[in-house]
Amino acid sequence: MARRLPSQPPVLPGFAHVHVLGSGGFADVFLYEQNMPRRQVAVKVMLSEVVNDQVRQMFQAEANLMAQLSAHPAILTVYQASISSDGRPYLVMELCSSALGQRYRTERIPVPEVLRVAVKIGSAIETAHRAGVLHRDIKPSNILLTAYGHPVLSDFGIAATLGESENLEAVGMSIPWSAPEVLMDETAGTIESEVWSFAATIYSLLAGRSPFEQPGESNKSSDLISRINRAKPGPIGRTDVPASLERILLRAMSRRPENRHESVLELVRELQAVESEIGVPQTSIEVVMDDWALSATSDLEDRTRIKGGHEAVSSVAERRRRRRGDPEATYSPVGTVVRETGSKPNAPTAGLSGRIRAFAWALVAAAVLVIALGITATLVLIGATNTDIPTVSDVQASTQDGTITFSWKNPGILADDSYQIKTNTGESSIQRSAEFTVDTQPGDRVCLTVTVNRDGKPGAPSSEKCVDVPR
Ligand SMILES: Nc1ncnc2c1ncn2[C@@H]1O[C@H](COP(=O)(O)OP(=O)(O)O)[C@@H](O)[C@H]1O
Ligand SMILES: [Mg+2]
Repeated sequence: MARRLPSQPPVLPGFAHVHVLGSGGFADVFLYEQNMPRRQVAVKVMLSEVVNDQVRQMFQAEANLMAQLSAHPAILTVYQASISSDGRPYLVMELCSSALGQRYRTERIPVPEVLRVAVKIGSAIETAHRAGVLHRDIKPSNILLTAYGHPVLSDFGIAATLGESENLEAVGMSIPWSAPEVLMDETAGTIESEVWSFAATIYSLLAGRSPFEQPGESNKSSDLISRINRAKPGPIGRTDVPASLERILLRAMSRRPENRHESVLELVRELQAVESEIGVPQTSIEVVMDDWALSATSDLEDRTRIKGGHEAVSSVAERRRRRRGDPEATYSPVGTVVRETGSKPNAPTAGLSGRIRAFAWALVAAAVLVIALGITATLVLIGATNTDIPTVSDVQASTQDGTITFSWKNPGILADDSYQIKTNTGESSIQRSAEFTVDTQPGDRVCLTVTVNRDGKPGAPSSEKCVDVPR
């Protein structure tokens, strides 16, 4: 997106400038070599035109936030943040490749690869939401690949530091991936607007273009804004993209926020179900469940915070937990242990005799073990809890005017579960209603199975119900 010449790289003590990596709407990214430890790093430097005292202050808050979220395996690692001697804020971060954000325009990325990236990046977004934080600039170019090829989300909340502006593009706002209510300035961002942007990003990776870009037509910002506001995105136009995936993305990009998925996690679970549908292994969801890992910095900028802050998101998690009928399991009490023992690891040893000191060290070692176990337990692989998934039995069918309606009794699904439906005629659906209608021709034989999907994992399928349509 280089629409201008890059700015001068700042002189940074301990770093030597190598070359430009890329330019965005409000910053340039340079390759520097760090002196100690010696390594190559990417340094993002804000343009002097967009910097003022308020932006500098917010930038610091955002850098703290990014550093905190960096522990997530799908969030870009930030090493350091500061303000250069000429007054420009900069972030020193892990050097990545921007290949994926460019590749989708020139190459057909295989569906399983897009799904794998989407589940990982979705886990990162969900984790941020649980910390009470919105990303506000989810788009393909903010998905980078680490040296090991892992997708990571970059630029957390940075867009928010730029505040209000008449000219959205001037501050690097990414129109093609912005939800209609954000473009209309009805909101600065919500979980639902992030669901929209995330789905628009996945759509782009599949379609090779953003959802409202029309090949061969004018795609100026004003055209995109009016299409985003009026229309539904058109078909992705790839025969290898399952209809279920396209339906999921269209729902997540509903014009009305209340018609979208309630959370990014809900959308991610449906993507996992598509992985099962196409016969590839499900990518695991990694979401931090514990409060200690999510205690957000207090100086966060309001526009980035989810309304009500950390408490509000905890209560979303709380609500979910209750809906899942799972009062304790997802919040490991180990987090509390870590906070207490971890904050003063040396305190018990002060002024103690040798034996007591040895005992104290044993305690510290035990605490370290508890921390290690705690961290393992805390990165709960939500996908792993699929025991006791109910099975649908007794599928009924009724025929009428060229259709068959299959229906079944709810076997006790939870609020986050869904039914995964498959027919021998190639139809499939992921839904919560206990009914499915198929169009038929005389002489057809239609067979259907229903499976309950929980946390992205299928349970046992129902026995197959077949109906022969008379000739
Ligand atoms: N950590 C990084 N490692 C390598 N390249 C990066 C990194 N961060 C950003 N870039 C490159 O710099 C470009 C500009 O980044 P940015 O200012 O965030 O703008 P945008 O995300 O809108 O492209 C990106 O498109 C990417 O190619
Ligand atoms: Mg970026």
